[in-house]
Amino acid sequence: MSPLARLGHQLQLNENPYGPPPSVREALSQALSSANRYPEFLPRRLPRLIAERLGVGADHIVVGAGATGVIMHIVQEFGSGGAGVVMAMPTFDGYPILTSMAGGRPVTVPLTPDGRQDLDALAEAIDPGTRLVVLCSPHNPTGTLIAPREFEKFLHRVPTTVTVVLDEAYVDFVAGEDRIEALALVEHHSNLLVLRTFSKAYGLAALRVGYAVGAPGLIDRIARWQLPFGMNALAEVAVRACYAAEAEIEARVEMIAGHRHRLTAGLRELGLSVPDSYANFSYLTLPEPDIDRVAAGLAGADIHVKRYPTGIRITVGDGDATDAVLTTVRSTVQ
Ligand SMILES: Cc1ncc(COP(=O)(O)O)c(C=O)c1O
Repeated sequence: MSPLARLGHQLQLNENPYGPPPSVREALSQALSSANRYPEFLPRRLPRLIAERLGVGADHIVVGAGATGVIMHIVQEFGSGGAGVVMAMPTFDGYPILTSMAGGRPVTVPLTPDGRQDLDALAEAIDPGTRLVVLCSPHNPTGTLIAPREFEKFLHRVPTTVTVVLDEAYVDFVAGEDRIEALALVEHHSNLLVLRTFSKAYGLAALRVGYAVGAPGLIDRIARWQLPFGMNALAEVAVRACYAAEAEIEARVEMIAGHRHRLTAGLRELGLSVPDSYANFSYLTLPEPDIDRVAAGLAGADIHVKRYPTGIRITVGDGDATDAVLTTVRSTVQ
């Protein structure tokens, strides 16, 4: 068994259940024979590759070791010295953790009861000590989406001295017509950073590739925190090969959407409350005593999920994982 393989159903990190397509694996295996060589001192080719794909200038892209690596550099630039970083709670754990590591102050705003980020309350939480505000669409852990018009209204409410991060880690799971026109907005909002990752739809979590898109002045400020030789050389090989295998990647995204649909519908049939998710996970909203019971049932069946104060986030796995979750949850709630 590969040392990277793990047992049970691993549904706690929103990973893609499918390994890379064969052509991507082949490209990576060939690249391993050059593992004795350093990567570029600072990454230039990878931002160019991503920029060409997105149709923006290479000076609009900064890459990092996963979106997490980029977030670290963003909070180093904007979140140090006690600066306020406004975010929903709960959100992706990286935001409060990395903000505190950088010496910043997470300012948290509760989600609405239906699992959405409260855009009005987030805008109102911005004060003169705020340097950064973070929104995720789809949101982690609830999978809810911000409507394009709502986001644009929010952007206009934020002072231009405050940087806005729009985290789109799961955007590849969202249908085109529901997406925020994030790249077009970057052209008109020099304080907007759009964050993306190859860890989710592209299934490259182990290789650590993420990036931000923004105005060149903003991108330069983040890029100055990059570690020399810090980007994995295999990242560029894998991204290039994934772009060439787009049809297979899309087929996986569609399979995951199908499993998500079945998981969500199956949980709702049990009378459980699950917000519409636009990502590769579903959020089971539960009252406190039930959370423990369902979480214990899942753990007993070797199904690993993430527990929150108001529910349980379940990554969409393959068909077997979906069956296992539904059978186990059914046995704990009936
Ligand atoms: C909303 C969000 N942003 C960023 C990340 C980080 O992704 P990575 O560092 O693997 O690119 C995650 C991972 O779960 C996430 O949920």
